[in-house]
Amino acid sequence: MTRGGRTKTVASLLAVGLGLAGASLHAQAPKRRVIGMSQCNLGEPWRQQMNADIRKAAAAHPGLEVVFKDAQNDSLVQRSHVEELVAQKVDLIVISPREAAALTKPVAQAFEAGIPVIVLDRAVLGDKFTCFIGADNRQIGRAAGEWIRRTLGGKGRIVELEGLMTSTPGQDRHTGFREGLDAAKNPGLEVVFEADMQWLEPNARREMESALARFPKIDLVYAHNDPGAHGAWLAARAAGREGEMRFVGIDALSHEGLRYVRQGVLDATLEYPTGGAEAIATALRIFAGETVEKKIVLGSRLYTKENVDAGGAAVSAAGQAKDEKGARR
Ligand code: FRU
Repeated sequence: MTRGGRTKTVASLLAVGLGLAGASLHAQAPKRRVIGMSQCNLGEPWRQQMNADIRKAAAAHPGLEVVFKDAQNDSLVQRSHVEELVAQKVDLIVISPREAAALTKPVAQAFEAGIPVIVLDRAVLGDKFTCFIGADNRQIGRAAGEWIRRTLGGKGRIVELEGLMTSTPGQDRHTGFREGLDAAKNPGLEVVFEADMQWLEPNARREMESALARFPKIDLVYAHNDPGAHGAWLAARAAGREGEMRFVGIDALSHEGLRYVRQGVLDATLEYPTGGAEAIATALRIFAGETVEKKIVLGSRLYTKENVDAGGAAVSAAGQAKDEKGARR
């Protein structure tokens, strides 16, 4: 072989080698995927945490891009956000819907258009979505009711401040609570005041002002979320009556509910995980062609002043909170 020929051969071998390396690099480069995240509201710390959890989980996967939408607590706006995401042909939609009925149709349309849809935390009606991820709100409500029944010793006047009752967590936290309270067998327990504060602290405060004006003695406030419980506490404190009653909420964010428990503002709170990391993990499984479960249920924990530093107590399937050894509290 001539000198020129050898050079050519080396050059072409190099070219083939580089080409192969390029091809394999190309094969390893993650496919770009766009996830549309339709958030119903970013007003509460819990929803900011959900978005942060999603952002963090997605950041660990190069190639994954998340487009966030905030419907600012308006179901019609959220509906148009879902429609926009479908028109943009995103690869997958994650939605935490404000209300069940209002968001059912846009979710079904996205699903029928062939876009996988993960419904997070609040449910929609029917089964036209890929997967639902969330904790069992009825079980959480039941654990709250049982704890309240035991803590009040079967006797007391209770105020229930409900989350938006057109959303499934509000409905389930109410139903579960009444089951756990079991007022039929405990006639000394009376829910004297019940109002829908729509998950919002200022509404809870206003409703609690009415309750305080009507009832000279209240033993406990059960609010469907920690902002609601805190709003009620603010109203009671303004009336100089916060020491008269206990306060129970749900969410247990470390910088919100758990802090309130440590400060003695709340007597108990139950964890409501955001499911943000699980949503991304499930999206990746869907992208990999796996068939995922229709429903993924997340766990919860009950926190009180006594157990908060030890990490709380797991809430069991029956709704009861158990300590680390599994004994009933
Ligand atoms: C935030 C929030 C949480 C609650 C959840 C229920 O918007 O109200 O406090 O746990 O939504 O969907």
